[in-house]
Amino acid sequence: MKITVAGTGYVGLVTGVCLAEIGNKVTCYDIDEQKVQKMRQGIVPIYEPGLEELMKKNIAEERLFFTTDAKTAYESADVIYIAVGTPENEDGSANLTYVEEAALAISHYVKKDTIVVIKSTVPVGTNDRIQALINEHKLPGIEITVVSNPEFLREGSAVYDMFHGDRIVIGANDERAASIIAEINKPFGIPIIQTDIRSAEMIKYAANAFLATKISFINEIANICEKVGANIDDVAYGIGQDKRIGPHFLKAGIGYGGSCFPKDTKALMQIAGNVHYQFDLLESVIKVNNKQQLLLYTKAKEIFSSLRGKRVAVLGLAFKPNTDDIREAASLVLIQKLLNEQAEVTVYDPVAMENAKSVLGDSVRYARSAISALAGQEVVFIVTEWDEIKDIPLSTYVDEMKEPIIFDGRNCYDLKEVEKYPITYISVGRRNIIHASLVEKR
Ligand code: UDX
Repeated sequence: MKITVAGTGYVGLVTGVCLAEIGNKVTCYDIDEQKVQKMRQGIVPIYEPGLEELMKKNIAEERLFFTTDAKTAYESADVIYIAVGTPENEDGSANLTYVEEAALAISHYVKKDTIVVIKSTVPVGTNDRIQALINEHKLPGIEITVVSNPEFLREGSAVYDMFHGDRIVIGANDERAASIIAEINKPFGIPIIQTDIRSAEMIKYAANAFLATKISFINEIANICEKVGANIDDVAYGIGQDKRIGPHFLKAGIGYGGSCFPKDTKALMQIAGNVHYQFDLLESVIKVNNKQQLLLYTKAKEIFSSLRGKRVAVLGLAFKPNTDDIREAASLVLIQKLLNEQAEVTVYDPVAMENAKSVLGDSVRYARSAISALAGQEVVFIVTEWDEIKDIPLSTYVDEMKEPIIFDGRNCYDLKEVEKYPITYISVGRRNIIHASLVEKR
């Protein structure tokens, strides 16, 4: 199959590379000339484990191409995937400008029957609207059929997910188009679910909203565990063993971030609101998450009346491990609060430092390693559970900081281990360990 993927953001690029890997001839189209130049040389513009290797291989084997020319990209493709961004409007709704622009360009250049697959996350009803837009502008006598094929890729494991996901959803009102897209996806070896277009669009939002709900739920249980003297790790394990609940997405922490959950939950609120439905549950999920992102700051304020002039380290900036993405990351919410209080903030992340610099500028100090971030600090906040951070021996905190006070937003350490060291340790949904030195000071 000759496939074009419009948009080389994280979804578009991973999709394009993996479609090439299973044997298609794939052209990735983007308007950014510099980015396209780099990708032609096999340089991946994002941090995504396994992607560069696969990209270089498929370029070398002449299945993967990059272009900034819309005519070349669209004219002779059998199938065109739209994977452009749908950023959030101020009111929380999804901005569809890029999707519409892509649809218009496709209508303009396509000269034969073609299937347009919408990968971008779009509100229910958008695929139908795009079909109508294309019908209005396409050449007469040709068929351009829109199919919805939402993605469920996790950043940091996106390549793995392409080949090992739980399901592929294909939403189409045209049986022939659906079966062609199913055929393309067959080599991935993942169960395919076929639905009508609107149900496919809804599956994407409902899946993300449900996962966000699980996280907010467990975070609330964690907050109650602290107050009643229970341990959230044991509680999460205990409920997760019930097959009806399942063990995943029950890790309590400082809330969800990233490019999907915050945006998609708000967009689903909008979708519901547009049909005059008050989605009370999801509204609470979002509210709980906003509160949870502030948790470490709230806990710090319970211990110190003021953070002014305190030397603090923030370990981990990415919204989760194995990505350089800091969009909607809890780290940014925490750091802003610390800066407002005039704390002296040092930050470290294994891969997200450059992205952080573009947001935080010179308001914080950037450390070269986790260990050097700790040196001479009074307080450390653990925000992202990178292996590199989880593997820091507890003795290192004692060596580098005089009387370590650790606020751990990801429960990286075992409480019994921590107790062996002179450390004050505050985590999520578990009892606090307050070292004698701090008790004396207070
Ligand atoms: C998510 C969905 O998982 C994916 O299917 C969809 O296509 C895009 O959105 P992603 O945002 O990359 O993927 O990351 P994910 O691993 O789902 O984590 C999202 C956030 O939830 C992170 O901030 C993570 O720290 C948090 N999280 C996740 C928890 O706090 N607890 C958990 O148990 C799981």
